[in-house]
Amino acid sequence: MGTRFSGDSSALPGGGAIRGDGSMTASGGMGAVERKQTMRVSAIRATSSTDPLIRGSIERRETGPHDVLIKIVWAGVCHSDIHTVHGDWGTVPFPLTVGHEIAGIVQETGSDVTRFAVGDRVGVGTMVNSCGECTNCKAGLEQYCLKGNTQTYGSLDRDGTITQGGYSTHIVVDEHFVLRLPKQIPFEAAAPLLCAGITTYSPLRHWGAGPGKKVAIVGLGGLGHMGVKLAAAMGAEVTVLSRTLKKKDDGLRFGASHYYATSDPETFNQLAGTFDLIVNTVSAELDVDGYLSMLAQDGTLVNVGAPSKPMSLHVQSLLGARRAYAGSATGSIAETQEMLDFCAEHGVAPQVEVIAADQINEAWKRVLSSDVRYRFVIDMSTLS
Ligand SMILES: NC(=O)c1ccc[n+]([C@@H]2O[C@H](COP(=O)([O-])OP(=O)(O)OC[C@H]3O[C@@H](n4cnc5c(N)ncnc54)[C@H](OP(=O)(O)O)[C@@H]3O)[C@@H](O)[C@H]2O)c1
Ligand SMILES: [Zn+2]
Ligand SMILES: [Zn+2]
Repeated sequence: MGTRFSGDSSALPGGGAIRGDGSMTASGGMGAVERKQTMRVSAIRATSSTDPLIRGSIERRETGPHDVLIKIVWAGVCHSDIHTVHGDWGTVPFPLTVGHEIAGIVQETGSDVTRFAVGDRVGVGTMVNSCGECTNCKAGLEQYCLKGNTQTYGSLDRDGTITQGGYSTHIVVDEHFVLRLPKQIPFEAAAPLLCAGITTYSPLRHWGAGPGKKVAIVGLGGLGHMGVKLAAAMGAEVTVLSRTLKKKDDGLRFGASHYYATSDPETFNQLAGTFDLIVNTVSAELDVDGYLSMLAQDGTLVNVGAPSKPMSLHVQSLLGARRAYAGSATGSIAETQEMLDFCAEHGVAPQVEVIAADQINEAWKRVLSSDVRYRFVIDMSTLS
């Protein structure tokens, strides 16, 4: 069985049985709820872990009293979408529509919705629900819901179906999990903030990135380039640790002061004992000890990258300088709004490459070969 990772994955909180048609029966505390499926919308679908993605359609539920119906305008392409469909993290409930970087416009609001109106620019990230009652939910940390949050795709929803993500023209979401997109952020650039942005913002904030702090970002991809921009905007001294120097000009333009190639063993000697915080955004396994050696006294290496295979380390890498090795999953709804407002205030936005729906398979290949500069965003008008 593959690794289950509840922050940004296809984990199915609450359990439940997958029927032959891919739908599910709810179990655990949630109970089965009758569902009225009123809207069939266009979507990009994965039917297996090896076949190309294809055009198709999915059902969206009726807009309930607390729901918002969103017309999706832009959908970011996260490496997690690829990990999920490829089965890197475990069983996949095919057919599945992935995508959890959603920017769109409110088209309809439920009778009890108070925070949004038709026409608003809104976003949805990696989760669409949580229990709302556990200690973490009550503390405003829905991403760490003790019952498992409901992920935007591949999760067991309250009504017993499997959630379907943002590579589609519309989505219906409880208003608590909907974010306001500040108008200062270019619309298409807002989408990747909902995962790549918050996933790097949250650990940078939690571990105190700011003036006087030396922060390294490992891997200059979708998450990595946001990590560089955000850490620099927070006032930290930022270093990029990339495999080669190919993207050095970009890294410096994004706000880094230093840029090193990790393919050069001398990098690890030169930077030994340097960083207060290292955020590892790499999608594959790394030599953890090598990166720990670059931490200063009391420094922390945080993994946000989620490779499929385990990584090992020598505890001696931690002991001598009281170093820590940690992980972090996306961010809460309140923190995501804080991040969006921070980006608006500081003029931070991802560098995106807009693609049409039919270019998605090519885009996934380019992500896998690290040929993405720096986030693909699907123009959803090309799907309808
Ligand atoms: N924790 C969370 O909540 C969360 C949220 C979102 C995504 N993720 C995970 O974060 C990871 C990155 O996502 P992303 O969308 O930013 O992916 P991405 O755009 O593909 O970026 C990953 C970067 O990692 C580096 N890299 C790739 N393969 C490598 C290898 N074999 N060895 C060393 N470095 C390698 C590359 O940087 P260089 O070319 O600069 O070396 C690449 O640009 C994925 O595993 C994703 O699932 C986690
Ligand atoms: Zn993601
Ligand atoms: Zn909870």
